[in-house]
Amino acid sequence: MSKTAPAASPARATPPDPRAPGPLRMLSGDRPTGRLHLGHYAGSLANRVRLHRSYQSFFIIADLHMLTTKNTRADIAATAGLARDMVLDSLAAGLDPQHSVFYLQSAIPEVAEVSLLLQSLITVPRLERVPSLKEMARDAGADEMAYALLGYPVLQAADILGIGADVVPVGRDNAPHVEIAREVARRFNHLYGPTLTVPELIPGGTPSLVGTDGQGKMSKSAGNVIYLSDPPEQVRRKVARMYADPGRVRADVPGTVQGNPVFVYHDEFNDDRAEVAGLKQRYRAGAVGDAEVKERLAAAINRFLDPMRERRARFEASSGLAEELIVTGTEQARRQVQQTVAGMRRAMGFTAVFSQLRGSRLSAPGAPATGGADGI
Ligand code: TRP
Repeated sequence: MSKTAPAASPARATPPDPRAPGPLRMLSGDRPTGRLHLGHYAGSLANRVRLHRSYQSFFIIADLHMLTTKNTRADIAATAGLARDMVLDSLAAGLDPQHSVFYLQSAIPEVAEVSLLLQSLITVPRLERVPSLKEMARDAGADEMAYALLGYPVLQAADILGIGADVVPVGRDNAPHVEIAREVARRFNHLYGPTLTVPELIPGGTPSLVGTDGQGKMSKSAGNVIYLSDPPEQVRRKVARMYADPGRVRADVPGTVQGNPVFVYHDEFNDDRAEVAGLKQRYRAGAVGDAEVKERLAAAINRFLDPMRERRARFEASSGLAEELIVTGTEQARRQVQQTVAGMRRAMGFTAVFSQLRGSRLSAPGAPATGGADGI
């Protein structure tokens, strides 16, 4: 390690700071299951973009988490392209490649090791109470839960604690997973001494953005999404078909604004606040048609997406850029996780056990010299 020892402290009474000094770290990310959409934006992408320059920021492409619901060879083969799309979507959304470390989870085997070392620190009933897991099992059409799915939050805790994240901006579904990461980090530190950083949750701005069909949250599997990469015409078509107030059969019938998906999106994405206020007032009074409200929404969403389209075109023109970012990012993230695992093994005493065995073994003549204890 390049950390310099403080002057004049031959034997420190307090345990060493588990973390080398440096900027605070942020971790967020997604499974590579499809293009990013407005729901991702409202849930965590907006926070990532807003905050990422203030931290050393890591973005995980969580392909091991994808295995909990999609695990065929074809699913895995598709992740190379999807990972590239995710990075391009993120850059388009406003992440600066100079300030973002993108990495592929499955290319860091130490993540699995961290996950294993955490498994004794949480109970099965605690995991069974995590609401998102039942939802994911249901969405995947599974009537019984895979062991991997039950362990989803533990693997996520391994991502977070392995990187040593100080802050984790995620959407509402993922908030309980961050809480689990906090719990296991505290338990680890209590049992083995201060080793892991206890992360803070940065919650998303909107409680899960509703889908265009008004039926639950925006999700690819429900087919009710507007992608950040949708062209303007497609946005207009999707908005024109959006669910609004079903009781409103004519433009002169007073409509409900509260909870109406069309207005939820106006509130979230229309930068012309005066226009939104005016439309709401006319809608309540039965003085505007749904068609006009939707046309203005489509225009607002397109205004919101236009800078992303420009950035995407620019980044796409630089061929191989996303791939390069993932490869170098993965190398950097791996070094971080390796450091954490070594610290965990030391804190738990595994390192000492093996060096003790090594030190006391019968040394066969001609046996190769042993290396440092830290390798194991
Ligand atoms: N669970 C996240 C999702 O819903 C993906 C993820 C995996 C993640 N590991 C993470 C998010 C660590 C934040 C931090 O797709």
